[in-house]
Amino acid sequence: MTSPLRRPLVAGNWKMNTGVEEALELARQVQAGLPDRPPAEVVLLPPLISLWPLRQLLRGDDRIGLGAQNCYWERSGAFTGEVSAAMLRSLCDYVLVGHSERRQLFGETDDQVRLKLDAVLASGLRPIVAVGETLDQRQAGRTDDVIGAQARAAFQGLEPDLAARCTVAYEPIWAIGTGRSASPEDAAGAADAIRRVIDSLHPALARQIRVLYGGSVSAESAADLFAPEAVDGGLVGGASLRAGEFLAVVGAAAPV
Ligand code: PGA
Repeated sequence: MTSPLRRPLVAGNWKMNTGVEEALELARQVQAGLPDRPPAEVVLLPPLISLWPLRQLLRGDDRIGLGAQNCYWERSGAFTGEVSAAMLRSLCDYVLVGHSERRQLFGETDDQVRLKLDAVLASGLRPIVAVGETLDQRQAGRTDDVIGAQARAAFQGLEPDLAARCTVAYEPIWAIGTGRSASPEDAAGAADAIRRVIDSLHPALARQIRVLYGGSVSAESAADLFAPEAVDGGLVGGASLRAGEFLAVVGAAAPV
């Protein structure tokens, strides 16, 4: 379980699922089932179209934060179909950047992820930056190199007060949506590797910055995955689309 220096966070990444009505219903169910003092900070990342309705629904409920799954780095202009971090400012608290589906399906590079991260920070929002290796990279023993390089690209040269506002999500690509999560030892090892990189860039911050695990987190696997001291909660995909299961995952973030 997370260090006392860091509050655990469990974020539900709904990906491209739920229309507005469904999103409202799912958020209502999460709201109704959450204890008054959840053991973790809870953040929902619905599709963009539902951020505003959910903002209205959750107004005054400080147990649940909202985040966007992506953004564009320019503030405004002729970028058809894009939404800027600046525009998200009044809608949410967090923005996920660098999810492997963005990197793999939409060709986002480390440099572009960094531009997004800078834009999120410049807008006063908090980035959750996702890093992770493919199965081939893991089998070749390159996990720490790959995620280390992604983390370095995100944190290098960042002002310490900005770096302190970031959360990292370690999401091995082979574990996403496959029902096969990493082992708690592998999750902890990856979180340690990420912290070593942060430590080399921002020594004062390495113990302060949260590192989440993501990839087939479920009600069954969550307690084990969140048990290592290095892991500060989770980024949850499929299981976040069922309120009961998501609430069980949040419950698993409680200290044992
Ligand atoms: P999953 O997705 O929990 O469905 O594996 C996690 C993610 O992609 O954030």
